Amino acid sequence: MKSRVLITGGAGFIGSSVYDAFKKSYDVYIVDNFVPFYDIRQKLTNLEINSSILKKDKMQNIFNCDIRDYFTMKKILTEVKPDAIIHCAAMAGVQQSFEHQREYFSVNVDGTFNIFSLSSDLNIKKVLFLSSSSVYGDSNKMPFKETFSLNPISPYGMTKVQDEEMAHFFSKQMNLNIVTLRLFTLYGPRQRPDLMLHKLFLNHLNRRESVVYKKTSRDYTYISDGVQGIKKAFEFLMENDSSDVFNIGSSNPVKTTDAVKEIKKIYPEFKYKETEKKRGDMTKTFANISKAERVLGYKPEMDFKEGLKKFSLWFNNYYKL
Ligand SMILES: NC(=O)c1ccc[n+]([C@@H]2O[C@H](COP(=O)([O-])OP(=O)(O)OC[C@H]3O[C@@H](n4cnc5c(N)ncnc54)[C@H](O)[C@@H]3O)[C@@H](O)[C@H]2O)c1
Repeated sequence: MKSRVLITGGAGFIGSSVYDAFKKSYDVYIVDNFVPFYDIRQKLTNLEINSSILKKDKMQNIFNCDIRDYFTMKKILTEVKPDAIIHCAAMAGVQQSFEHQREYFSVNVDGTFNIFSLSSDLNIKKVLFLSSSSVYGDSNKMPFKETFSLNPISPYGMTKVQDEEMAHFFSKQMNLNIVTLRLFTLYGPRQRPDLMLHKLFLNHLNRRESVVYKKTSRDYTYISDGVQGIKKAFEFLMENDSSDVFNIGSSNPVKTTDAVKEIKKIYPEFKYKETEKKRGDMTKTFANISKAERVLGYKPEMDFKEGLKKFSLWFNNYYKL
């Protein structure tokens, strides 16, 4: 019999990509509240569903529910009885987290508490939790290793650190197996429009000049590599009676100034100006992925230039260029 997996945030960029990769091998369910943090149509397209879900509690295997709603979440988990949860739901994005601190804290910390505590109460032993490279903050030591101390510099990063503390508590004291993945800037088809590459493409589409932060670098990770890491970590979670933390990145930081040069090759009319970075933005992200390679057999494959081209093809198609 297929294992039953429930994905929170399953309508989003990463959750829906995981859903597509898992639906053949597993019996998959989704919980998402379709928050209009960005255009909901993108989430509906991700799942190939129409807007009637927004007026319903449930459509097929998709539950329209807020993870902060403890009692409805309890009802759903009792009904579905998943063998494991992949917890992707969150308010994501560094800059917005300064303006919406309370909401970030409420969804990311309270909501994640519900996921861990309900898993413990309902004997769902296995949880895969998506954390972020933002937990490292502006560290001078590179590349970031899982053992480094965590110094978040944004409210978003702070909420993920709180979640990781809870994950540690629930695995040590409440006997859950929780695998935490610190993801490094995923990009590619379905990427959130607030994330840098998608934002720059959109500025170009709307003939707006982009502002890019010089002296910054990002360890861009193509979505199929991220999903590969999630898949391998999920298999590890199901096969082992243990909890652990892994970086999932490319281990190949790209300077923002080089990234925009590549964008200009794809869209020659692309216009930008360089400026200093904003508060909360890390100067550089750089993943040490040796633990994920050794323990999970994770191996990122996509070259940045190639990934950017593939992403632009999705973008052109999605926005009907
Ligand atoms: N995209 C990245 O590069 C990246 C990097 C590091 C970590 N992450 C983490 O990966 C996860 C997924 O990120 P994403 O980029 O796919 O974001 P996303 O916003 O596209 O997906 C998150 C989904 O969660 C849902 N959601 C938000 N609040 C909810 C709530 N209260 N109840 C139920 N559902 C809710 C949203 O509707 C959305 O569909 C997040 O936890 C994020 O912090 C993402």
